[in-house]
Amino acid sequence: MKILVTGGAGFIGSHTLVELYAAGHKPVVLDNLSNSSPKSLERVAELAGVESVPFYECDIRDRAAVDALLEKEGHFDACIHFAGLKAVGESVAKPWEYYDNNIGGTLTLLDCMRWHGCKNIIFSSSATVYGDPAVVPITEECPKGHCTNPYGQTKSMLEEIMSDMQKADPEWNVVLLRYFNPIGAHRSGRIGENPNGIPNNLMPYITQVAIGRRKELGVFGNDYDTPDGTGVRDYIHVVDLARGHVCALKAIERKCGLAVYNLGTGRGYSVLEVVNAFEQATGVKVPYKIQPRRPGDIATCYSDPSKAAAELGWRAEYGIEDMCRDSWRWQSMNPEGY
Ligand code: NAD
Ligand code: UFG
Repeated sequence: MKILVTGGAGFIGSHTLVELYAAGHKPVVLDNLSNSSPKSLERVAELAGVESVPFYECDIRDRAAVDALLEKEGHFDACIHFAGLKAVGESVAKPWEYYDNNIGGTLTLLDCMRWHGCKNIIFSSSATVYGDPAVVPITEECPKGHCTNPYGQTKSMLEEIMSDMQKADPEWNVVLLRYFNPIGAHRSGRIGENPNGIPNNLMPYITQVAIGRRKELGVFGNDYDTPDGTGVRDYIHVVDLARGHVCALKAIERKCGLAVYNLGTGRGYSVLEVVNAFEQATGVKVPYKIQPRRPGDIATCYSDPSKAAAELGWRAEYGIEDMCRDSWRWQSMNPEGY
């Protein structure tokens, strides 16, 4: 299939490109490089054994540029839509920027797509739409919760917008993928997560402490109602997540209409368990200090991934050791990122 991949130069997008090539698809990337480097695409090309990845430096809010891309490229079978801003804390400080980029950008993209006859989309949603879940593991039927930040609101609103569009026009096939916590990197160590500035997320912080760029990890709270008091999350290897998109394309080919899937492993790990697993997998110590809770965090969040297994034939294959080992290989081979 010929696939438009928005945000393809980013962390999850770059890993998905490798899997798309491996499955025989033809991706074309649109990215404004606001949170990524074009080097990721050079490395994807090297891993995929292609000369270069077709790439348009373009913003999804720029209607004329998106239209021109779709005009020039001709028919796309589907779009995998990763492009978006994703820093929870930043979204609280800059709500307009998040609504403009994520919602405004997606509305423009969807409109351009329908005018060019492409009504198939896979959307990067997030476990954040469940808010603080009443029960775990979380199934797709669990009610969506109150999102405590503008980033989460954009994901939840975009899910509603695309669901309404699909209801009104059944020619659309919309797959909403709710990712849990993606970590890890391609096992080559050539592509990985490349956060700007101080990492917000746990694993990049751990790897930066391990490589000596930061003194110690702050563990945000040890008084949650969890076995060791620290927050529990469902970490998923980014390559497993990437393969989930290839499976979701098959659902689009089967004309799935509207479909929603959790992509997680179904297993939760606490912060201290992750630190321990990292030390075991790499032999590198990670000094840490208990700090106050981070505002907006919840105690426990992990998925029931059985719907994706039953309907997409997708299951996460990698365990926490693989995730730690591969994150560390990426960080140690690229101490300053790309
Ligand atoms: P990322 O920042 O590495 O990738 C996003 C890409 O989108 C970047 O390359 C950025 O330059 C591009 N982009 C942003 N705004 C754009 C715009 N207006 N026009 C064109 N390109 C634009 O993030 P990621 O971790 O790869 O996440 C990909 C998607 O998955 C995002 O939508 C994110 O919200 C979602 N998601 C991520 C996580 C996570 O923990 N990483 C969890 C759940 C959902
Ligand atoms: N944590 C620390 N110290 C850190 C960073 C994180 O103790 O320096 C803890 C957090 O308190 C939490 C756990 O590690 O208990 C995971 O935190 P992350 O920031 O890595 O991930 P979150 O679960 O908070 O959120 C992430 C993404 C969201 C996405 C969500 C989906 O940041 O965008 O996963 O589940 F929506």
